[in-house]
Amino acid sequence: GIDVSSLLKETGFVTLDTGFVNTASCTSAITYIDGEAGILRYRGYPIEQLAENASFLEVSYLLIHDALPTPAQLAEFADKIRVHTLLQEEMRTFFSAFPRDAHPMSVLSSAVTALSTFYQDALDPADEDQVEISSIRLLAKLPTIAAYAYKKGVGHPLPYPDNSQPYVDNFLRMTFGLPTEQYDVDPRIAKILDMLFVLHADHEQNCSTSTVRLVGSAQANLFASIAAGVDALSGPLHGGANAAVLDMLEQIKREGGDVDSFVTRVKNKEKGVKLMGFGHRVYKNYDPRAAIVKKAAQEMLSTMDKPDPLLEIAFRLEEIALSDDYFVSRKLYPNVDFYTGLIYKAMGFPTKMFTVLFALGRLPGWIAQWREMTTDPATKIGRPRQLYTGAAERPFVPIGQR
Ligand code: ACO
Repeated sequence: GIDVSSLLKETGFVTLDTGFVNTASCTSAITYIDGEAGILRYRGYPIEQLAENASFLEVSYLLIHDALPTPAQLAEFADKIRVHTLLQEEMRTFFSAFPRDAHPMSVLSSAVTALSTFYQDALDPADEDQVEISSIRLLAKLPTIAAYAYKKGVGHPLPYPDNSQPYVDNFLRMTFGLPTEQYDVDPRIAKILDMLFVLHADHEQNCSTSTVRLVGSAQANLFASIAAGVDALSGPLHGGANAAVLDMLEQIKREGGDVDSFVTRVKNKEKGVKLMGFGHRVYKNYDPRAAIVKKAAQEMLSTMDKPDPLLEIAFRLEEIALSDDYFVSRKLYPNVDFYTGLIYKAMGFPTKMFTVLFALGRLPGWIAQWREMTTDPATKIGRPRQLYTGAAERPFVPIGQR
């Protein structure tokens, strides 16, 4: 009922673009997406080639430094990260204060904010060395925090990182290892998880990255900006979708596995019923990451003794959706989240941890985007305008006369 055109006339030259559907907030040289063609490149390199050939730390270096590292550069980068994986002892006790059933995304964002209290001498966004050491600390400590968020939920003691281990192996060992048992990382699992982190590493100006940039544009420190990104990612329309997909598949299974009737409810736009893991603001074609994840899910789940019936439901959902006019006409295809949850489940992660895994993967992208923003002379504090729709001026009524 709001007459937008008259509001626009009153306000002057203001663009109303709710949800920033068609408004660029910055220039960026990091990630290229062609949503119509289903193309994604980091720093010019196709996602398919990076997923196939590059490790997560290699891609992190690429995103942050705009070049594929030489072997010596990669070794130096990995070593720097390796020696920063420990959390301060006081920081470890922080985890005991949360309730056992705390959502690990809330624990993660609180812990990232808390990191800034330990490194107060390195928070200046304008100091290159301080930004570099903060970036290294974040990359090194996020897996430790993520593992502790998991341990908190299962009531296990918090282990120390083992700095002789590669990045992903160290995370898996901290998450699933127990002091009472020998834990050997399954190299196939480590490889797939590393590849999934590569697929999540950046995605230009999505909701969480835009949040990181917006908070950083006020010259808030890197930890504060990344914590805000974690919070944005937690929403079910963004990173939280990977958990929401699994909840949806489980619900369909519980209700007898009737995929067709679920799709009908989606098409009838029943309140709260969406095909989670489908649709994307930018991709109007198959999400290139989803194609890679689907293959990985097939590979991972085919090695299991008992195939997961949820995979069958997911295949069927995709098949129906891709041939149904509702989805075809709206160009709704599976996004990166549609199959990741099934892989994480097969790896042994509880659903609540799925979005934390997304955050671990997205971290180098957030850092690279924040650094690009803070070093861009064109950056200004982010401050959108609005079209005011409230009351016109009215006289104040004293409390006794209301
Ligand atoms: N299921 C059913 N219908 C959908 C879906 C879906 N998953 N997504 C979009 N639609 C419909 C909308 O109802 C709308 O229909 P209408 O034209 O009849 O009103 C049309 O498609 C356009 O959708 P919008 O909501 O306008 O698209 P928008 O770009 O704002 O939203 C989003 C994109 C949030 C990703 C949306 O597709 C969605 O909610 N998907 C499910 C959640 C999800 O998987 N999120 C993960 C995104 S990827 C990521 O963050 C990593």
